[in-house]
Amino acid sequence: MDVIQSKEELHELVVAWRHHDEHIALVPTMGNLHAGHTSLVENARKFAERVVVSVYVNPTQFSPSEDFAEYPRTLDRDTRRLKKIGADVLFIPDDATVYPFGHTCATVVSVPGLTENFCGATRPGHFDGVTGVVARLFAIVQPDIAVFGQKDYQQQLVIRHMTEDLNLPIRIITANTVREKDGLAMSSRNQYLSEEERKIAPVLYEVLADIGAELQDGNRDFQRLEQSGAERLTAAGFKLDYLAIRRAQNLEEPKRDCDDLVVLASAILGKARLIDNVVVTV
Ligand code: PAF
Repeated sequence: MDVIQSKEELHELVVAWRHHDEHIALVPTMGNLHAGHTSLVENARKFAERVVVSVYVNPTQFSPSEDFAEYPRTLDRDTRRLKKIGADVLFIPDDATVYPFGHTCATVVSVPGLTENFCGATRPGHFDGVTGVVARLFAIVQPDIAVFGQKDYQQQLVIRHMTEDLNLPIRIITANTVREKDGLAMSSRNQYLSEEERKIAPVLYEVLADIGAELQDGNRDFQRLEQSGAERLTAAGFKLDYLAIRRAQNLEEPKRDCDDLVVLASAILGKARLIDNVVVTV
């Protein structure tokens, strides 16, 4: 595996791969890799001969109340993991590569509408930071395919929207959420849970899966399902941010006859803000 910092060096490799008609998949990450990321790389491998994994802790997607400086940086461990699973390139651009004019003067890429609710409402500016950095990584790497996790459901919808709206010739793949044995979605944030909180955390998925099963069985009392789910989470010790049943394709309010639904939630447990979702196709 090549570890590359400069976009020129990466570009040389990309040109050589293209010359051999090889497809390129990009897996953008902020590092601190776990089994969820491994699965993104494995998914990428199904669609492309070459896999580039980027590790860049993007300052513009952190709000002032979130601690960018404290975000875990584990490059040595990440490098070992990526070597083991056979990524072709680990791309670790610096700030000047990603934001040549500095991030305070950076061009803004913004997807209105989709970013206004849910995580967009609790983390103002977050999605502009995500679309901004992903657009930049797309421009630098020029992949054919890019892979994102379903756990960040709103994020992957926002990126799909941006890619389609800007006519970027990149296929977006959404990889299934990888879970611990007890159902908890894998996330870098799980490490912030205390032992006691870790025991409570799987309740988030349990609640979403139960609502998903009700929807699958034809229950369309969305409001009641949301309310009882919220009550269960609060009773378990979560501070609820949101729990909502929405249309899977655009997060709009669903009608009773909708056949694509997603149940999505964000809830705080101690220092960790956990998110998860369940997609229901009727
Ligand atoms: O999901 C993430 O890890 C980040 O939001 C992403 C897509 C790598 C952009 O920084």
